[in-house]
Amino acid sequence: MYASKLTLELFVVVLFVFVVSSSSLNLVGGYHDKDVTDPDCQKFAEKAMAQQNAAENGNRVIKDIKGCSTQVVAGTNIRINAIVCDKEGEAYTRCANCSMQMFRPLQSDRLQNNRFHCEPMPASATVSN
Ligand SMILES: *[C@@H]1O[C@H](CO)[C@@H](O)[C@H](O)[C@H]1NC(C)=O
Repeated sequence: MYASKLTLELFVVVLFVFVVSSSSLNLVGGYHDKDVTDPDCQKFAEKAMAQQNAAENGNRVIKDIKGCSTQVVAGTNIRINAIVCDKEGEAYTRCANCSMQMFRPLQSDRLQNNRFHCEPMPASATVSN
């Protein structure tokens, strides 16, 4: 009787540890397989290829995607709306209304997935300060 109670207690402790560790693991996640036809896989493959081509001054193309998996990484997605201008002396010129999106991983200050999109502002919309 005592032995089975101890076993039950041990089981509960092990279960508790498993639940806690798997829920904190969810924060950093593991890799999960995706279908290679998934639009994200296609998109990110092309993007990575384009960046690689730019870095090595190459012109390679992706023939086939053979595998694709993703991992959810703890961090912060950030969206910012800002007016971005040229600065000539003290004057701001050619201002644009820009949206920025970025991802800051928990483990690093280096931003990832930066997106920067600007709409020109009418010349009449002069910006002071
Ligand atoms: C900038 O663009 C956003 C939409 O993208 C709009 O909501 C906002 O009012 C614009 N700001 C200015 C100053 O034009």
